Amino acid sequence: LMDVERVQALALRGLNELPAKFIRPTHEQPENSKALEGVTVPVISLAKPHDIVVKEVAEAASEWGFFLITDHGIPASLIEQLQKVGKEFFMLPQEEKEAYANDPANGKFDGYGTTMTKNLDEKVEWIDYFFHVTAPPYKVNDEIWPRNPPSYREVNEEYSREMLRVTDKLLELLSESLGLDKQVLKSHVGGDKIELEMKINMYPPCPQPQLALGVEPHTDMSALTLLVSNDVPGLQLWKDGNWVSVNYLTKTGAIFVHIGDQMEVLSNGKYKSVLHRSLVNKERLRMSWAVFVVPPHEAVIGPLPELLDEQNPAKYSTKTYAEYRHRKFNKIPQ
Ligand code: SIN
Ligand code: FE2
Repeated sequence: LMDVERVQALALRGLNELPAKFIRPTHEQPENSKALEGVTVPVISLAKPHDIVVKEVAEAASEWGFFLITDHGIPASLIEQLQKVGKEFFMLPQEEKEAYANDPANGKFDGYGTTMTKNLDEKVEWIDYFFHVTAPPYKVNDEIWPRNPPSYREVNEEYSREMLRVTDKLLELLSESLGLDKQVLKSHVGGDKIELEMKINMYPPCPQPQLALGVEPHTDMSALTLLVSNDVPGLQLWKDGNWVSVNYLTKTGAIFVHIGDQMEVLSNGKYKSVLHRSLVNKERLRMSWAVFVVPPHEAVIGPLPELLDEQNPAKYSTKTYAEYRHRKFNKIPQ
């Protein structure tokens, strides 16, 4: 394995200036692409009457490609535990974390990682992360679960079960909001073969946050992404030609829901895969826990036939998720 300098280790050196590889091109720097503050992002309580929830989901998914859900039934104590064990992992000595290092260039995506430059002028993100598949059980790599803290696995398995439950609920609501039978989206995304991938994003304090990005603008490849963060804001959404900050109080236990590329394709563009990015902070460590809801690689994803007719022709091509993923990673048009 190559020797990788982790962002966390770099941050601990107490630099005054950001190393060049983290300095974004001028137009991308947060100070030159300021976000609107105080815009209200949709928040949907799942405790509201069913028809209202379906309507609110339809509006948020088509206008924003993003919403927050409350009253989802996940105990606040479980979310706290998830955050605690994730943070404890990142506080382990560097050499202990390196035992879990990933190696994406050689197809090993699971584990501890840092974004790396592929060529000299490419910029990197101010982030370290931990990525692993948590469901279904036969896709889980037993070697990669952090052994420290000792409760990491149990807590994450419990959270993964809750994520599957909430995923089922959201796929039902999204199906109904498209005028479809409630089982339709789940069966197209893979039914019982739906996979969950956990990515813990760790953004250390950054000496010049106005020049850097934690995650560059992107849409998620997933069908849905379900995210929680610590109480440091940083997520921004692209909406009607502006960046919009999601400064929602994370203490309320809300789950952030992103519509991903596969959902945009299945809905034939009715639902938008939201463009988003994350910023970093000068003093404070930001962390977020993103769960990607993805189809199995062999699933064939295209616009749902039920949504197509002569007035509404397919706007997207149909292909396996493996093919979609290959193209996205290699920047080949879909
Ligand atoms: C991401 O979308 O990749 C990260 C979002 C976040 O940290 O809030
Ligand atoms: Fe994302």
